[in-house]
Amino acid sequence: MSSPARTASPAHTASEVTESSAPAASGTPDVLVVGGGVIGLVTAWRSAQRGLATALVDPEPGGGAARVAAGMLAAVTELHHGEQTLLALNLASARRYPDFAAELTDLTGQDLGYRRCGTLAVALDADDRAGLRELHALQQRSGLESEWLSGRECRRLEPMLAPGVRGGLRVDGDHQVDPRRLARALVAACERAGVVFHRVWAERLTVGRGERATGIVTADGTALEAGRVVLAGGSLSGRLAGVPDAVLPPVRPVKGQVLRLTMPSAHGPLLNRTVRAVVRGNHVYLVPRESGELVVGATSEELGWDTTVTAGGVYELLRDAHELVPGITELPLTETRAGLRPGSPDNAPLLGPTELEGLLLATGHHRNGILLTPVTGDVLAHALTTGELPDEALPFTPRRFGAAPARPAHSEQPA
Ligand code: GLY
Repeated sequence: MSSPARTASPAHTASEVTESSAPAASGTPDVLVVGGGVIGLVTAWRSAQRGLATALVDPEPGGGAARVAAGMLAAVTELHHGEQTLLALNLASARRYPDFAAELTDLTGQDLGYRRCGTLAVALDADDRAGLRELHALQQRSGLESEWLSGRECRRLEPMLAPGVRGGLRVDGDHQVDPRRLARALVAACERAGVVFHRVWAERLTVGRGERATGIVTADGTALEAGRVVLAGGSLSGRLAGVPDAVLPPVRPVKGQVLRLTMPSAHGPLLNRTVRAVVRGNHVYLVPRESGELVVGATSEELGWDTTVTAGGVYELLRDAHELVPGITELPLTETRAGLRPGSPDNAPLLGPTELEGLLLATGHHRNGILLTPVTGDVLAHALTTGELPDEALPFTPRRFGAAPARPAHSEQPA
């Protein structure tokens, strides 16, 4: 398994920790989490908070797709037909965000950049407008709050929008967080909770005689035993050797290229909220941070493990973003990066116990990893302490893809 680089250090190192509810750091842990992206970190943190001795394996905890992600918490604007069940989980996680962010900040002293700024989804031509009208109808049938605005009303809210904007949807409940800050705070929270970090690749799952996951072997040949193993390796989750085929998570990498620009601070914000659109069939979004960073994303490409930033990807993102907000071409382009979303067959995560005793999954979050971080931590901690999934997570059991499928996560009911 491999993961992108981590570039920042947590605010508190383990040696600085003065307060911890954690069990002793030696001996066989109750839980071993494989993967140190935000999903693995939140799982480890919540499980340690519940009194489970917890370890985590990743060469660079806090890296992964969070290094790339824009951090939109877009349960309403990213709603898709046929994803009503996923919507319920997305909304459950969005509702947790204010307390989750406050708890992490109180604990670590780190600001997550959680901003309740709302989102404006706009249309540039008649086809986009029709698509957005459909989304609005779907949102209304789903009981979600969104307001249709004329082009003029959109520009009144966001004066830098292109004059050609034909209308839009104002969604005041879709917010943002800074995924890099989130990841750093989670590393610090894990350290404070006594999670033991093994900064090395996990190479192979070990399965004991009673057909039970008993730990892993790392890339340097160390055998790590554990009471339970949680596989939370993002797009790499299907690549851990030793996992029996029947429980291997069906996740695949979905490449996303993302740009970062810098907005001038002198004349007020370029944008007040996240602005997004579908331009010629491609999703484009602009996420303005209080720090002055403007994140522009994202491509969605099925190219296997390729994480090359391409001229075409950058060109298309800038072209589409420029159609929305012409002024962006004046801004310094400060970063280009590509990451891999962990796509699953129904775009929904795989959460909880598998058919292999002792092996749980927390993966397959696809476009919603940052949004689903709080609820994933709670669901996995519940599963690890009780052996059961909470009701809200039942549709997301990994068993839905196995021999004994449970309720599917992908509701077929009309929206
Ligand atoms: N949720 C945004 C993305 O995956 O691009």
